[in-house]
Amino acid sequence: MDLEVEASWFLQFLHPRYCFLVFSFVIFSLLLYLVRLKPWCNCEICHDYLTSNWSKQFDNLCDWYAHLLKNSPSKTIHIHVLRNTITANPDNVEYILRTRFENYPKGKPFSMILSDFLGRGIFNVDGDLWRFQRKMANLELSKSSMVSYAFNIFNCEIKNRLVPLLYLVAGKKDEVLDLQDVFRRFSFDCICQFSFGLDPSCLELSLPMSEFAVSFDLASKLSAERAMSVSPVLWKIKRKLNIGSEKKLREAVCVINILAQDVIRQKRKLGFSNHKDLLSRFMGAVNDEPYLRDIVISFLLAGRDTVASALTSFFWLLANHPLVESEIRLEADRVIGANQELKSFEQLRELHYLQAAVYESMRLYPPIQFDSKFCQEDDVLPDGTYVRRGTRVTYHPYAMGRIEEIWGPDCLRFRPERWLKDGVFIPANPFKYPVFQAGVRVCLGKEMALVELKCLALSLVRRFQIDLATPGRTPLFSPGLTSSFRGGLPVLVRKRETPL
Ligand code: HEM
Repeated sequence: MDLEVEASWFLQFLHPRYCFLVFSFVIFSLLLYLVRLKPWCNCEICHDYLTSNWSKQFDNLCDWYAHLLKNSPSKTIHIHVLRNTITANPDNVEYILRTRFENYPKGKPFSMILSDFLGRGIFNVDGDLWRFQRKMANLELSKSSMVSYAFNIFNCEIKNRLVPLLYLVAGKKDEVLDLQDVFRRFSFDCICQFSFGLDPSCLELSLPMSEFAVSFDLASKLSAERAMSVSPVLWKIKRKLNIGSEKKLREAVCVINILAQDVIRQKRKLGFSNHKDLLSRFMGAVNDEPYLRDIVISFLLAGRDTVASALTSFFWLLANHPLVESEIRLEADRVIGANQELKSFEQLRELHYLQAAVYESMRLYPPIQFDSKFCQEDDVLPDGTYVRRGTRVTYHPYAMGRIEEIWGPDCLRFRPERWLKDGVFIPANPFKYPVFQAGVRVCLGKEMALVELKCLALSLVRRFQIDLATPGRTPLFSPGLTSSFRGGLPVLVRKRETPL
């Protein structure tokens, strides 16, 4: 085809008849798309969702969902306008996460929502990309030497930074400290040392929160908000035009990228072939710089926000349950010895009550309150719920912790004893407690996270009396991929008369 013929072939489509056809086709596709979304559903739940009516009765969206799920006979509900089936039924959870794992991947809609922030990182992919990253990470994280390596990192960070910081605050009368901010810095330092072999020194005294951490929180919040919108069309248009929240997200991701690239560059400079951290292992196998960036971001998200979130709610609960706190101290004195420091990882394993308290805290306040998959082929869940292909299926650990049929009539009480039999910690069925997910994609950092939580909890509880600066308030959560307290956790810190 020469140029003239090509041009006239193209021009024929500008004829009004073709323009009309194209226009009609676009409108028809849009209508079809809207029909499938059911954005007008008039059922009570969808109405309350769309009008935010729920907020008249509940502080947090997760509390409303917990209420709906508790009252549903099958423990499954539908938000039609979101094409979302939400379940708190352990049989359904097992079915989705294990029995028919292949039919419930993260799916394209989910990875699209998070792609700007998480790219091709482990949290955001299925199939071969996921298998590769899981295998590599598992090789490192399942080593028995890994836990003692992590144990040393946590204890150095606690001894050299966290405890001195709290002594400093305790020495000043009426000084209010945001414990959530401190925990984020702490867990950020730890995950960077553990995963990348680098120390960002975030917990150094009097440092402002880094630009990176602020951008990280913002990107997590804005990405989560994408997932809450009724249709992706809106955020996609805003993204194209680079306006509003999408502009902010792009800017936040830019800052994050710069840091991640810096981490990779530093690692290359130091040489990575002899190092034992996660990033070195990945760098030995992957040459693609953007892919390495995505891997770095996913591990930061995995290790920073989840741990900080678990610690924040744990200390909020302890401040409201002084008897649990003193029980933790009594157990520590018994096992480790009064006035004695924790000496080994083995000693930590003997602290059954502490382990129970940590599990109980995450039962009521799971760091990841809900998690979604996308159904590949039409299916029926064990409770009889029909799931059409393309439906988002969400399991909801936050609601599950509040369901009497799962945890008994005292399910709303913070009672570590429910995990103990003759003083020994007994784990629950992971599908009734999917705080670390369960089944095929179960969290790879679970053991490490538990060591981190227990080391920190123990060292603070034995040295300091920590009181809420604003007692009596129930937590309000900020939107984000992991749960966080809106306004942080302001506390007053005092030295104990007889520390340790
Ligand atoms: C209290 C702390 C933690 C909690 C509650 C937690 C919980 C979870 C949950 C619910 C998932 C599934 C998320 C999803 O599929 O979207 C997950 C996945 C994962 N977690 Fe954790 N996590 C914690 C700490 C950690 C730490 C410290 C690491 C350290 C490296 C880690 C590494 C991972 C990885 C690599 C995955 C992806 C597994 C996969 O997709 O195959 N986690 N975690």
